[in-house]
Amino acid sequence: MDITALRQITYGLYVVGTNDNGRPTGCIINTCFQVTSENPIIAISMNKNNYTHDVIVQHRRFSLAILAEESDTSLITTFGFQCGRDRNKYEGRNHTWLHDTPILQGKFAGHIVCELLSMADNETHDVLFARVIDTLPDDGTPMTYAYYHQVVKGKAPKNAPTYVAEEETKPAKEQAPDSQASTKRYVCEVCGYIHEGELPDDFKCPVCQAPASCFKEI
Ligand SMILES: Cc1cc2nc3c(=O)[nH]c(=O)nc-3n(C[C@H](O)[C@H](O)[C@H](O)COP(=O)(O)O)c2cc1C
Repeated sequence: MDITALRQITYGLYVVGTNDNGRPTGCIINTCFQVTSENPIIAISMNKNNYTHDVIVQHRRFSLAILAEESDTSLITTFGFQCGRDRNKYEGRNHTWLHDTPILQGKFAGHIVCELLSMADNETHDVLFARVIDTLPDDGTPMTYAYYHQVVKGKAPKNAPTYVAEEETKPAKEQAPDSQASTKRYVCEVCGYIHEGELPDDFKCPVCQAPASCFKEI
């Protein structure tokens, strides 16, 4: 099937934040839309493998920080390519708490706090429907998914509903091959970055920080 038309669907970008027994955790999503207008309900699509999915199901509340063009783009690397199971993604990032959900400080287009109502099972992803219980306006220009791809030159990992397999074959950043080393090439299975040359055991992906074990020779 030609999926070109699917790529014309427009989205924003959000950090979904939730509360893992007092520890903030969360991830990037692009799939959020408003379902109803009165006493509003919103929906988000969450991969069942994401740790954030499990924590929301348990805690039942989450915040959405609406990313702005002025937002710190390292938020996308940290929250979109790393897993909160083994690290605290909020470490070193100023945040407060509102209704038991973490609110990131910095440049955003606004914040929304939600309470989980129901979930619809959709194979790899659950769609979570949630009541909006509070909002915090902000004045950033909302970052669209198109802006993320065209200006930030970002990519989407496998857990994103909009992941496109061929993106994996394109390097996130080209790296000058080392003339002394072999011409082996390795792809990071997390973010698609391509490394050329020998891959030391302690190597970390410069884009998403994944360890050498996440690289596959190509
Ligand atoms: C641009 C972008 C968009 C993404 N959109 C979604 C999404 O809509 N739903 C989703 O489940 N994951 C999405 N992801 C993937 C998660 O952010 C990613 O798998 C994250 O590492 C999960 O972290 P966690 O295991 O701590 O929850 C997206 C990632 C990026 C970079």
